[in-house]
Amino acid sequence: MAVCEVLKMGDARLLAPSAPVREFDTPQLHALIADLWETMAALDGAGLAAPQIGVNLQVVVFGFESNARYPEAEPVPRTVLVNPVLTPLGDEHEEGWEGCLSIPGMRGLVARHRRLTYRGHDAFGHAFERTVGGFHARVVQHETDHLQGLLYPMRMTDLRRFGFAETLFPAGTSAVR
Ligand code: NI
Repeated sequence: MAVCEVLKMGDARLLAPSAPVREFDTPQLHALIADLWETMAALDGAGLAAPQIGVNLQVVVFGFESNARYPEAEPVPRTVLVNPVLTPLGDEHEEGWEGCLSIPGMRGLVARHRRLTYRGHDAFGHAFERTVGGFHARVVQHETDHLQGLLYPMRMTDLRRFGFAETLFPAGTSAVR
């Protein structure tokens, strides 16, 4: 296990689509997942996708009891999600502030599907499915976007709502830091 370098926006590797995982329960896959958890924890992240540490595979981790970067977010179960498929439920969207460990110090307002079902596999190849809403749904959409080479500013429709977290949200005034 190791804390890995997180690639920053501008690195072409973040723009490449990731390949599906073909073999589960391998030492390599478990090591990748351990690195993702450790790196995410070291940086106080809510989630992390394999391409952000330079691994071009459809693997994301996310979840927390509480998160300093998103203090008002409800808890999200700690989840390993491999080869995800998302199915939005309904047409309802919801705007919310997002950050990304690949875009440090910034926040942007992004509209996401309010509710969705996601399917995928865990590290052992067990299939699972969840129907979620709110911040959980937002985190899943943000992380799985990384697997398609998408960063949250590419989802924004109003770049006036993009800026430095410390300027958008001076200490004590805000929901995020
Ligand atoms: Ni991100």
